[in-house]
Amino acid sequence: MRGMRTAVYPGSFDPITMGHMDIIQRSRSVADRLIVAIMVNPRKHPLFSVEERVMQVRKAVSGMKHVQVRTFEGLLVNFARHVSADVIIRGLRAMSDFEYEFQMSLMNRRLRPESETVLLISAEPWTYLSSSAIKEIVKFGGSVKGLVPAHVEEEMRRKFKDGHDFHQSS
Ligand code: PNS
Repeated sequence: MRGMRTAVYPGSFDPITMGHMDIIQRSRSVADRLIVAIMVNPRKHPLFSVEERVMQVRKAVSGMKHVQVRTFEGLLVNFARHVSADVIIRGLRAMSDFEYEFQMSLMNRRLRPESETVLLISAEPWTYLSSSAIKEIVKFGGSVKGLVPAHVEEEMRRKFKDGHDFHQSS
């Protein structure tokens, strides 16, 4: 739609955490429409299939009118072009994230200067939160209540009970 600013928020979301939810909510200040873009990467060994992640994120953002959930393969900038997104949103938790985000943002700018990367600083309670920490905690029986949407915690417990595992990736 003309005059609407579209942003993409790419990631693995394996699984979506409250840190991601915070970034999704705060993206409102920089975009009218947000597309949460879940990367399809057959080389990674995620805990949840891409279809499961789409369902989880859709449920988590249901009721948020400006948010859509999609998957993408290949280069992010090609997906951004495809959905006419002029903003790429990423969350920054700590300095340790910076180098990776810096490199990715420069590379993406080189590939497609029309997409501007905007780094949103995580809200304090989520600065130590990561999908991989969440997976490890649930795997070894700890509680992640309040750190991921309730339906996600439930699905994780079920996965691990069924003997699924994951390879450290995100
Ligand atoms: O949640 P993650 O795993 O930190 O997300 C990483 C992601 C999906 C944003 C990144 O790996 C990505 O954009 N991959 C798509 C391939 C691509 O465009 N690579 C060039 C950027 S350097």
